[in-house]
Amino acid sequence: MRGRSQYRLSQWLRTGLILSAAICVALTAAGLVKAASGDDQLVDGARLVQLANCAFCHGHVDHPERGLAGGRVIEAWFGGVGVPNITPDTDTGIGRWTLVMFRDAMRHGRSPNGIRYQSIFPTDNYAGLDNSQIAAIYAYLMAQPSISSTSFAHEQPVLPFGPTPARLLRLIDRWRLTEYAPMPKPTDGTLDKAFQLSQTLAHCDQCHTPRDVLGRLDPTRHFAGSYRPLYGGGKAPNITPDIKTGIGGWSVEEIATYLKTGESPEFRDVKGSMSFIIHKSLGALTADERQDIARYLLSLQPLPSEIK
Ligand code: HEC
Ligand code: HEC
Repeated sequence: MRGRSQYRLSQWLRTGLILSAAICVALTAAGLVKAASGDDQLVDGARLVQLANCAFCHGHVDHPERGLAGGRVIEAWFGGVGVPNITPDTDTGIGRWTLVMFRDAMRHGRSPNGIRYQSIFPTDNYAGLDNSQIAAIYAYLMAQPSISSTSFAHEQPVLPFGPTPARLLRLIDRWRLTEYAPMPKPTDGTLDKAFQLSQTLAHCDQCHTPRDVLGRLDPTRHFAGSYRPLYGGGKAPNITPDIKTGIGGWSVEEIATYLKTGESPEFRDVKGSMSFIIHKSLGALTADERQDIARYLLSLQPLPSEIK
């Protein structure tokens, strides 16, 4: 009898041990899975932030320790614009923002107070991001160090006191009297990814598509080159496959190399804002993605232009 109950006890103990070990393994596994998916989201977010070039405006090339604390003035096509702090600092950054507020800003260009952002924050392009991409960007931003930096009062509508044309253009832009003309999606489904990378994230059209005086992108001349790039100044050349004035003479390989190194087939090195884009932003592309973007550019309608 005694032997039997001892046997039962040890059976129970053994089963108990096995069970608790199994529960432990299951919990750890669940923990690990959770940690891994959290990490994956941060990795995704980091890549999206890089490809969307947030750092050109919100970052500081010479002060990487300031993260995305903003505070600089960026030259937009209509004049200088101060850039807000998007670190998770609760007083001067976006630390109090919910995911919904963030999504509204990114997708609808609307601040938590309902004010429309100026078009230099390229939300018309970011509107094409899906919910999981916006959540990944949000998670990544919220995981960065909080940096206190009082930027300017960017929520104040700018009134056209005084006659300067820049102020007037800014006002027009603020109230978006001009509508964004989106680029049509490619009909060839294999170019969808390239479209999402170059249009939704890297907003190539905002610089390479010509604008009218009110800043509206010309819907009939996408990528035909512009004297009024959204930011960065200079002129952005024609990147349609027109042989004479565009990049029709470049091969897929040559375009992909340019997007990687900034070296054109004529061995000219890239200058200006495109240099930042290639070296700081497009570096997150894989070799295949660069080729896809090159194929996408060469699939567009060739448009001759005065800008070479
Ligand atoms: C070309 C410059 C530029 C780029 C690129 C850019 N932003 Fe901005 N962003 C701005 C400017 C300027 C404002 C303020 C606009 C205004 O006040 O009307 C702004 C506003 C914001 C705001 C609202 C902040 C607030 O306090 O209201 C958020 C959030 C934001 N940007 C996030 C991002 C993210 C994330 C990216 C990259 C995915 C990005 N921005 C890319 C220039 C830029
Ligand atoms: C901030 C504005 C801006 C954005 C955004 C931008 N570019 Fe550019 N791009 C320029 C400027 C300015 C130049 C001219 C650079 C130079 O003079 O070396 C240029 C040059 C180029 C060239 C070389 C053309 C030639 O004839 O030499 C290609 C190709 C190009 N861009 C493709 C792209 C693609 C693809 C994207 C999106 C993934 C993009 N650009 C986004 C401003 C921009």
